[in-house]
Amino acid sequence: MRTKYIKINNDKDLRKLRKPADILRYGGLVAFPTETVYGLGANGLDGQAVNKIFEAKGRPNDNPLILHISDLECIDKLACEITDTAKILMDNFWPGPMTLVFKKTGVVPKEVSAGLKTVGLRFPENKIAHEFIKLAGVPVAAPSANTSGRPSPTKASHVKEDMDGKIDVIIDGGQCDIGLESTVIDVTSELPVILRPGKITIEDIRRLVPGVEYDRHLVEHSEVVKPKSPGMKYKHYAPKGELYILTGSPENVKKYILSHYNESTGIITFDETFLSLPNEFSVGSINDSDSAAKNLFDILRKFDDNNCKVMYGFMPDDKGVGFAVCNRLLKAAGGRIIDADKI
Ligand code: TXA
Ligand code: MG
Repeated sequence: MRTKYIKINNDKDLRKLRKPADILRYGGLVAFPTETVYGLGANGLDGQAVNKIFEAKGRPNDNPLILHISDLECIDKLACEITDTAKILMDNFWPGPMTLVFKKTGVVPKEVSAGLKTVGLRFPENKIAHEFIKLAGVPVAAPSANTSGRPSPTKASHVKEDMDGKIDVIIDGGQCDIGLESTVIDVTSELPVILRPGKITIEDIRRLVPGVEYDRHLVEHSEVVKPKSPGMKYKHYAPKGELYILTGSPENVKKYILSHYNESTGIITFDETFLSLPNEFSVGSINDSDSAAKNLFDILRKFDDNNCKVMYGFMPDDKGVGFAVCNRLLKAAGGRIIDADKI
């Protein structure tokens, strides 16, 4: 299959979305930008089209997809038993980087929900995503547009690396603003549970819904606690080499890296701790979690491009959106942490 590329530079270009929207409605696969990461979209009411997403990504078929919408009217068609707390979250954070998991209606194909009785809905804020979904006229089923297991794409070039020749269209809308996937919240009971951390933090949510908690597996790193979100149990975001996360004082971390560095080493660091070595990339200032979120996946992909075999990363601060950054980084590292103060 030849993949078509469409670049959207400004509002005038939004009319170029009509064709890919038609392609999607009639069963094709179209990758599109959102404020979080690029999504790989199919018509969310067409089970056969949805199956093609699993094929293109190599995604395990017990991992459900989220449906993307461009207005609130279609919600009652897709979800039922919508609680008051869910309404508060929708009113405050939609459109935006938040996915809500509801009890589903019979309209949602089994291919989308992977056999679960629930469905995740997301109302993106990104202008291109919004216009594209609106033109498609159907809910758009879309996981992140990466090959399963690889870092999520935050640029159209990342989508191309993974999906060229496998999907109909890639819509290029530039680099994603946030760079980490949406916060996923289960709202099937009155007290919501955060299944995946993101830009909208637990503190943001607690201001409106004080009792909200993380799903246990996000805070207890034990083998026996199974995540409620099927996607969180898989190996994820992993570069091809082995990534180690270093904790301890910046001086000791630097010392550790320098004594283990060779030409196939990669380093993920901050502006303040930059050593000026080849294959060393900064996520930004040590105090800027937003910048770390935006740059993390791009850097993990650069390690692969440069054939790095072993990578070392500084542990970022886990406050605010930093919690989500640490969550993705630790997953990418398969939980490998080294305390540089104890060496
Ligand atoms: O920001 C995002 O959410 C991006 C953009 C494209 O919207 N999408 C995304 O989709 O990250 P995906 O499929 O890569 O991640 C969705 C996560 C997975 O971990 C999946 O298991 C979980 O949400 N999920 C989806 N439906 C669910 C459900 N019904 N119950 C529990 N977890 C669900
Ligand atoms: Mg994903």
